[in-house]
Amino acid sequence: MSSPILEIDGIDIEYQTRGDTAVHAVNDASFAINEHEYFGLVGESGCGKSTIADAIVGGLDDNGKITSGSIRYKGKEIQNYSESQFNKEIRWKEISVIPQSSMNSLDPVMKLSQQAIEMAKYHTDLSKGEAMARLRELFDVVGLSESRIHDYPHQFSGGMQQRAIIAFSLFLQPSLIIADEPTTALDVIMQDQILDHINSLKDDWEISMLMITHDISVVFENCDTMAVMHGGQVAEAGSVIDVFDRPRHPYAILLQNAFPDVRYPDRELAIIDGHPPQLRQKPEFCTFADRCPWAVSECHDSAPDPQRVEGDDDHQAWCIRADEMDELAAEHLEKPSETTSILEDTK
Ligand SMILES: Nc1ncnc2c1ncn2[C@@H]1O[C@H](COP(=O)(O)OP(=O)(O)OP(=O)(O)O)[C@@H](O)[C@H]1O
Ligand SMILES: [Mg+2]
Repeated sequence: MSSPILEIDGIDIEYQTRGDTAVHAVNDASFAINEHEYFGLVGESGCGKSTIADAIVGGLDDNGKITSGSIRYKGKEIQNYSESQFNKEIRWKEISVIPQSSMNSLDPVMKLSQQAIEMAKYHTDLSKGEAMARLRELFDVVGLSESRIHDYPHQFSGGMQQRAIIAFSLFLQPSLIIADEPTTALDVIMQDQILDHINSLKDDWEISMLMITHDISVVFENCDTMAVMHGGQVAEAGSVIDVFDRPRHPYAILLQNAFPDVRYPDRELAIIDGHPPQLRQKPEFCTFADRCPWAVSECHDSAPDPQRVEGDDDHQAWCIRADEMDELAAEHLEKPSETTSILEDTK
């Protein structure tokens, strides 16, 4: 069994806002990513995905703070690292980031080759020639022509820039890549190509990936394990196969029905009514309760503890009714007639 490379353990993250109020963006969130595993973090806009990513890399906005819990990378607590300490010890060589708005992460006034030389100078003892050779090799990995390494970022299309960022993210051979919505800004064909490149790294680079997206089907197609977030809380976590076949949190169940499934091309896609609550206080309730068809009064009175899903390894749902969900949701989820999962067939 592989060991965890990143462990998020009960973290709370707040942003101070004007007038002494706060946004409790992440509450008691826990999940772990194992070595060489692709992990998908999914949930709708504003649920706290990027906040977690920023917290991992010491890059929260100035008004943001981790108020409790821990983040361990390779067993070492890093939640108190400043951005500069993180940059010195971890960024690029241990964890690299493909940010949500990648367009800003390349220096617009520097050729890509110069940017690689700077990176090599700061972090390695590679010569200029060696740095160029590595950049050429990585351009090849992500399907960019080697002849383009001396271009400026603006000479690239959005999809090419995104590929260049992926090439840079691999430059120092990190163990973990955090990709925050790596394909959201791209058209569908380009999205597929980028995801293919990200997938192909799995075999050749032995890396772990934290892939953040609002699209649960991207997680199902590309990841091994996953967590679903709602309103600053983790709702469900486990292997992709278990969460796909046996979702136990109402939000995960409804989210799954809100995306197309090749097995049911004619199925009407569900719409999840309502909105997550504004989190001005730490939520002492399930943040999905107001939208949940199966909520009971207790759901509004206390934040749910994780329930293990019987028979599955490391599959947990933060729902007090998790044990009953299979039956309760039967009318919402059309189960495949075969017991084998389509995911098992494609993996
Ligand atoms: N600097 C900030 N100050 C105050 N509130 C913030 C700040 N940054 C984020 N938030 C709030 O924290 C919550 C979580 O935001 P976050 O960006 O982590 O969501 P997300 O899941 O990444 O959403 P998206 O899918 O839109 O990228 C939201 O309510 C957001 O408005
Ligand atoms: Mg985000």
